[in-house]
Amino acid sequence: MLPFAANLSSFYRIAKTMSLADVKYLLETPAHNPQIEAINDEAFGPGRFVLAAYKIREAGGHERSLSFVAVDGDIVVASVRMTRIAAGAGRALMLGPLAVRPAFKNLGIGRRLVAIALEAAAKTGAPAVMLVGDEPYYGPLGFKRIPRGQISMPRPVDLDRLLSHEIVPGAVARLSGEVCHADQARIAALAAMA
Ligand SMILES: CC(C)(COP(=O)(O)OP(=O)(O)OC[C@H]1O[C@@H](n2cnc3c(N)ncnc32)[C@H](O)[C@@H]1OP(=O)(O)O)[C@@H](O)C(=O)NCCC(=O)NCCS
Repeated sequence: MLPFAANLSSFYRIAKTMSLADVKYLLETPAHNPQIEAINDEAFGPGRFVLAAYKIREAGGHERSLSFVAVDGDIVVASVRMTRIAAGAGRALMLGPLAVRPAFKNLGIGRRLVAIALEAAAKTGAPAVMLVGDEPYYGPLGFKRIPRGQISMPRPVDLDRLLSHEIVPGAVARLSGEVCHADQARIAALAAMA
């Protein structure tokens, strides 16, 4: 007979594998909003509203056609959002927030959502994806540090957490200066032409 601890760990492994089999990945819809808000609140707390990435998203909203949820039945268990951004002559998508409900962590759901979002970004012709996040997590998913000083954010961030995933060669080098929502850059360009 296995010791109690070994039995318990096998039990959790089997329970997690079973719950993973029920998880489906879907495009985000407005109906998912309240649950996504709850997941982000649980993961980041009210402090999320003062983050640089939040300020950028707030300026034009996220791109729902490139944002995804993981669901278990009617329950949203994880979410990833993408937002169109501009920085100098460069254009890209900003990935985030990415959050997984605690009971569903460490099952590969976060990694899978990032992979789905990157694939969707590439299919729509997006040149690059950037984010503010932990290199140890995002590095193996295809993200590299953006050289310090190349871009900045509208609120203070740890510059070593600015990461990018290049889709079109040279796209990351075109990102420069302060990152803003792509809609803001478009409005500024129109105003300059008027
Ligand atoms: C970070 C997060 C999205 C990961 O999602 P997940 O579905 O649990 O992660 P996955 O199952 O895809 O990957 C698990 C692996 O990533 C590792 N990992 C998780 N968070 C990490 C981090 N911040 N840095 C480095 N590694 C991390 C785990 O230790 C695990 O490693 P292992 O495979 O070697 O055991 C999730 O923990 C979460 O929602 N955290 C709170 C919100 C957050 O920090 N979001 C990311 C910042 S935008």
